[in-house]
Amino acid sequence: MSLKNLNQLTFGKSMITDDIELCVDALTRGDLVAFPTETVFGLGARADSPAAVSKIFELKGRPVDHPLIMHCANIDVALAISPHIPEYAKKLAAEFWPGPMTLIFKRGVNDAICNEAVGGQDSVAIRVPSNEIARKLLEPCSFFVAAPSANKYGRLSPTTSEHVQEEFGDELIILDGEQSIFGLESTIISCIGELPEILRSGAITRKEIQNCLGVEVLESEKQTEIAVSGNKESHYAPKIPLFIVSDDENIAEFLEYESSECAYIGPRQTALDFKTKLVVSTYETYAHELYDFFHKAQNENCKAIFAVPPELEGIGVAICDRLKKASSLWEKSNG
Ligand code: TXA
Ligand code: MG
Repeated sequence: MSLKNLNQLTFGKSMITDDIELCVDALTRGDLVAFPTETVFGLGARADSPAAVSKIFELKGRPVDHPLIMHCANIDVALAISPHIPEYAKKLAAEFWPGPMTLIFKRGVNDAICNEAVGGQDSVAIRVPSNEIARKLLEPCSFFVAAPSANKYGRLSPTTSEHVQEEFGDELIILDGEQSIFGLESTIISCIGELPEILRSGAITRKEIQNCLGVEVLESEKQTEIAVSGNKESHYAPKIPLFIVSDDENIAEFLEYESSECAYIGPRQTALDFKTKLVVSTYETYAHELYDFFHKAQNENCKAIFAVPPELEGIGVAICDRLKKASSLWEKSNG
């Protein structure tokens, strides 16, 4: 067996590999590669190739006007993506990159990013990840890597290579890595206006951004005019019903569910007997484990998930945002 084969774990035809060179080669020739980041796993393609980028939209089933995030390893290269970079954005980049933050700029004329990658928008989103393996993948690439989360459109983001494999089966090269440290998608900040605006909450909190810039920063709850899939009401959804609840009494009101057939996640203990249960001691653990817990509850055929939300502070804001979007399908059907 060659060394390359030894480095690959094959399940059926799909491949989880730790061979960075093989993944760089695949990206270079226009193939897709899923890779780990500190937020969630991404589904990458070279951003200068319409053919490569179209494979992402096809595999995800994502509408073609939903723009992707461009990834690169180097902060100076990231900031050269657009001629329209406000001073506050440079401060944010210096403070939080590499890390779980995406900045959106007005787009300049630039062959490095094809129109398809930005869904035809006149803006571009960019992120410099901190995950070591992501950086090793991106460093040798002479192009930006466009990458949404490596899940089918509207479904749960993956935080392990196994989640990606479950979602896409034998269609994909997956670069292996440990479970995503933060576990929630990056904080997205629009840097198009005179002041920054948070479009998606994440591990970099509003308070941290305000402390860095010394100004009040808006957290946008509104739909921007730009197609932002993470803003759609029902997003990040598990395949089984998810309900946001306050306590055991509240759970007992869901008469159609036996707790012993259901899953529970929350910051407080529960006296009920659940099939799958996770009591999280910190909000960081809550974020880190949330999607993996949803995946587990699904795979264990739980009938429903009950989640007690964290307080709206720090990364709790992002957790509540994802819980709200992931549960919106079910809230409706329950009136
Ligand atoms: O943590 C993350 O951001 C992960 C990892 C892989 O980097 N990526 C991720 O990508 O979450 P995705 O495509 O699942 O979510 C990116 C969000 C989408 O809602 C997209 O519409 C929005 O960013 N977006 C991308 N480019 C944009 C732009 N130019 N203007 C406004 N929104 C944009
Ligand atoms: Mg996504």
